[in-house]
Amino acid sequence: KTGRPVGDEPGRPSEHIGRRSFDHWFGEKDRNGFIHRSWMRAQGFSDEVFDGRPVIGICNTWSELTPCNAHLRRLAESVKRGVWQAGGFPLEFPVMSLGETMLRPTAMLFRNLLSMDVEESLRGNPIDGAVLLTGCDKTTPGSIMGAASVDLPTLVVTGGPMLNGKFRGCDIGSGTAVWRFTQDRNAGRMSEADYAAAESGMSRSNGHCMTMGTASTMACMAEALGLQLTGSAAIPAVDSRRYSIAQQAGQRIVQMVHEDLKPSDILTRDAFANAVRANAAIGGSTNAVIHLLAIAGRVGVDLTLDDMDEWARGVPWLVDLQPSGKYLMEDFYYAGGLPAVLREILPLLKADAVTVTGKTIGENVANAERTDWSGQEGEPAHPVIRPVGNPLGSGAGTAVLKGNLAPDGAVVKQSAASERLLQHRGRALVFSSIEEYDKAVDDPDLDVDEDTVLVLQNAGPRGYPGMPEVGNMTIPRKLAEQGVEDMVRISDARMSGTAYGTVVLHVAPEAAVGGPLALVRTGDWIELDVPARRLHLDVSDEELAKRRADWQPTVAPTDRGWARLYVEHVTQANQGCDLDFLIGRTGSAVARQSH
Ligand code: FES
Ligand code: MG
Repeated sequence: KTGRPVGDEPGRPSEHIGRRSFDHWFGEKDRNGFIHRSWMRAQGFSDEVFDGRPVIGICNTWSELTPCNAHLRRLAESVKRGVWQAGGFPLEFPVMSLGETMLRPTAMLFRNLLSMDVEESLRGNPIDGAVLLTGCDKTTPGSIMGAASVDLPTLVVTGGPMLNGKFRGCDIGSGTAVWRFTQDRNAGRMSEADYAAAESGMSRSNGHCMTMGTASTMACMAEALGLQLTGSAAIPAVDSRRYSIAQQAGQRIVQMVHEDLKPSDILTRDAFANAVRANAAIGGSTNAVIHLLAIAGRVGVDLTLDDMDEWARGVPWLVDLQPSGKYLMEDFYYAGGLPAVLREILPLLKADAVTVTGKTIGENVANAERTDWSGQEGEPAHPVIRPVGNPLGSGAGTAVLKGNLAPDGAVVKQSAASERLLQHRGRALVFSSIEEYDKAVDDPDLDVDEDTVLVLQNAGPRGYPGMPEVGNMTIPRKLAEQGVEDMVRISDARMSGTAYGTVVLHVAPEAAVGGPLALVRTGDWIELDVPARRLHLDVSDEELAKRRADWQPTVAPTDRGWARLYVEHVTQANQGCDLDFLIGRTGSAVARQSH
């Protein structure tokens, strides 16, 4: 701690000793102070902003190319209101935005680039504390990773989910309905007209995907880690309470600067244990595994896939949200949101973990309630949030598999898988690229049945590059027409948090670096045993050694630019897919003068 003195009036510092924005920019005498203040004055600020009050950087991933984050300029205004109110000086700035639906080859390729943008923007500028405005999948972890490496007081405000999608009087969920309707249309069960109507009814307000996909999951992870105000994650983007809590966040970050409450105080191993357990209880996205590993790497917390598997075991699955369950984020908010879930599983949490509120997570949720039932007329038949005594399942979180096919691990989301396939032995049908699979998927002569194990290679972090969300390969048309809805699929890819199925993902090492996945051939037998956490390729070590001798690496065409830097330095999925040289922290020390 720097022992920074706090002012006599609340929120109004009487001194500014140790405040980086004042000491190194706005409080400077002579030429440099002239430069730092004079150009700021161009925006019409009056003298008080230079008096040593905390400068709060509002780091905004707003973009019209990221529809999920398109409202974040407006949300920033609410944060600013709170910052001014508490005696701070808010300055909003843009960072790279990553939209899942548009960005090719995959937003994941650029998560670490966003983190670098956030990191360097925060460190290089006169900023004492940061509010991260995020929403769409990668914008939350990417921003947190960057801020964690700087370690100035930081608070996350996610943009909130869209309202429930609507189609023919029913609720439909972002992403999840796309996968289902596409399968139905391919099988002739849905008309083109209905397919088009569903498209326009699904995304009908500002906000990120309103299923428990990656964006909703990471919003919950930010809250469970202690980085976002209690109750923030589930508030719909267009609900006035989203704007109200953003204003509270603006007030609180100013206090956090006075308290010098930093990410390194909050992101402890206990915080990660809480996040992993919360993820199991909410039926959250497999992508959280990779993002939490990457965030832990930035703060120097030792976190492994084995830890995550162990922590998730036995956690009751309580939240009945798509893609694993029934409801959507709007329902989740009305039912009490994440605080109600954390309150239910509190005995499983590290209740003493400190959060941005300045209180522990246990204190934050002590009075949280499940509000989707009155408590008087008895439990509804299908509550959105289950009580801990009546879960949807137990130990249904993301399981970590190991075996000769994935020596460094692979994951499967049990709550989104089919019971009958959790223990399965089948013959492999292998594709060396997703394009090759897409060409074959409609072929009526494809040699495949419902017991076949579909294997996809070269879709990992280096192989694609960027590890796209293609792991939930569409069921081959001829099987879909027979009514087959799920098959075992195995790859080094990720899948969208909105997707479902018995899909084994993140196989490490990936095929492109010579992982055993590269050696699988059509006709090989594969054994999946999720309860035993096993993924086994039934081929002898001698035969595998022979195949390895013949194996040629597939080199991705990345001769220059970001993709080249990425491919040369990205770590494997079990390490979080960060760039090797970004792991760790540089801190917030102020660099040399620019003039
Ligand atoms: Fe942005 Fe799903 S596409 S959150
Ligand atoms: Mg996604």
